[in-house]
Amino acid sequence: MVEPVRVGVVGLGTVGSGVVRLLVESADHITRHAGRPIIVERAVVRDPAKPRSVHLPADRISTDIRDISRDPSISVAALLVGGLEPARSMMVELLEQGKDVVTANKALLAEHGPELFALARARGRSIAFEAAVAGGIPIVAAIGECLAANRIESIRGILNGTSNFILSTMEEDAADYAETLALAQAKGYAEADPSMDVDGTDATQKLAILAHLAFGAWVPWADIPRTGIEQVDQSLMTCAAELGYRIRLVAVAARTAAGLLALRVAPALVRVGTPLAETRGAYNAVSIVGDAVGPMFFHGLGAGQMPTASAVVADIIDTVVGRAAITFRTTGVLDADGQASPMGGDTQGRHFLRLHVSDRPGVLARITGILGEHGISIASVIQHDADADSADASVPLVIMTHRSASTAIRAAVEAIDRCDAVRGPSVCLGVLDD
Ligand code: NAP
Ligand code: HSE
Repeated sequence: MVEPVRVGVVGLGTVGSGVVRLLVESADHITRHAGRPIIVERAVVRDPAKPRSVHLPADRISTDIRDISRDPSISVAALLVGGLEPARSMMVELLEQGKDVVTANKALLAEHGPELFALARARGRSIAFEAAVAGGIPIVAAIGECLAANRIESIRGILNGTSNFILSTMEEDAADYAETLALAQAKGYAEADPSMDVDGTDATQKLAILAHLAFGAWVPWADIPRTGIEQVDQSLMTCAAELGYRIRLVAVAARTAAGLLALRVAPALVRVGTPLAETRGAYNAVSIVGDAVGPMFFHGLGAGQMPTASAVVADIIDTVVGRAAITFRTTGVLDADGQASPMGGDTQGRHFLRLHVSDRPGVLARITGILGEHGISIASVIQHDADADSADASVPLVIMTHRSASTAIRAAVEAIDRCDAVRGPSVCLGVLDD
C-alpha cells in the first residue's frame, strides 16, 4: 500500500472549496495521476464557524497557519487566500517550515514573486502557480514548459473573467454595469475587492507574471500602463458595433524592434469574428506567437470555482509527482536579477476615438487638423446628431485612424482634449483587427 500524501488547504472560499471537492470527488482518478492517494489533512480559514459547501470534520478546520506549517505529516500546502497580507506571511511560514506551496494568488506573486521564489529555492521547496493566470487555461505550463524551445515574440490576451463577463453581458443583453458586476461577484468570479477586476489591476498582475515567464523580465506590475473598463458604456459599445467591433479588456506584451518591452492593459476594439471578440462570459483567451511554433491560441474559463480548482489540483499532482520541483529548482525560467526590464516600447496600430464636440462650423476641421499635425491619418469619421438628452448640445464624433504610433496618438488626444470645442475627456482605444 503506497502512503498517501497529506495536503493542507489554506482558505476554503470559492477556490479552496473547489479544490477540496475535486480532491474528494475525483480521488480515484487523481490517485492514478499522482501515483498515490492525496488526502486533505487540514484546512485553515479566517472564520471556522462559517457554513461551507464542502464537508471537513470540525477538528480538521482551524485558524492558525502553524496547524499546517508545523504538521510534519503535511508536505504540500495550497495557499488559497487572496491579497498581500496575511497571504505573504503565510507563504513565508509554509516555505520556512519545509512545505511545497501551490497558489492561485496572482496579486502576491506579482508583488513579491522574486523574493518568494528565492526563499523557496533557498529552502529547497517549490511554488506552483498555474491557477494564478487565466484560471483553468494551462498557460503557465504552456509558456514555461511546452513552448520552452521558443523565443516568445508577443502575448495578447483576455486575462480577467469578471471584466469579460461584464462587457459581453452588457453587449449581448444591454445589461446594466452595476447589476452585471454584482452577478459576477455572486458567481464567484470577482476578487474580494472587485475594483481590482474592473480597473485592470488583476489583468495587469497576470500580465506581469506571464511577461516574467515569457521574456525573463521582472516587471513591477504597477509600472505597466493600465486602463480599466469603467469608461465603457452602452453608447461606446454601440459606436464600436456600428464599425464591426466589440470591446474587450486586452493585455498585450511584445518585444519591439528596439528590444524594449511594450506592455499594457486597456479596453480595445476587437473585430467581430476574431477569437478575442468571440471570447464571452468568464472565458479568457491567450494568443501567443513563438518564433518556432508560430501563432497559438488558448481559450477556456478564466475564473470560477471548478476551472480554477482544476489548475490548483493539477499543480498539487505535479508537486506530489516531483515535476514541480524539477521545473522550479533546475530551470532558470523564474530567475530575476532584481532589475526592472526596459519598458516603454512604442507600438503601431489603428485607433478609435470617441469625442463629444460643440456642433458648430470648423470644429471637425480643427480636430482633424490636430491629428494631421501629429502625423495621424484618418480612415473614417462618423458624426451623429446631438444626443436628445445632451445638456450642452454636443454631438458625438467617432474617428477611426490608420496605423500610427501609440506615442503620437496619445499626444494628439491630449491636444484635442485642450480644445474648447471638446466637451469632457475623449475616449481613445486601440483597434485589433486580427
Ligand atoms: P474567497 O472566496 O474570498 O476565499 C478566501 C478564503 O481565504 C476564505 O476561505 C477565507 O476564510 C480565507 N482567509 C482570508 N483571510 C484569512 C486569514 N487571515 N486566515 C485564514 N484564512 C483566511 O477567495 P477566492 O475567490 O477563493 O480566491 C482565493 C485566491 O484565488 C485569490 O488570490 C484569488 O485572486 C485567486 N483566484 C480566484 C479565482 C476565482 O475565480 N475566484 C480564480 C483564480 C484565482 P473564511 O472563509 O473563513 O472567510
Ligand atoms: N477575479 C479574477 C477574474 C479571478 O475575474 O479573472 C481569476 O483570476
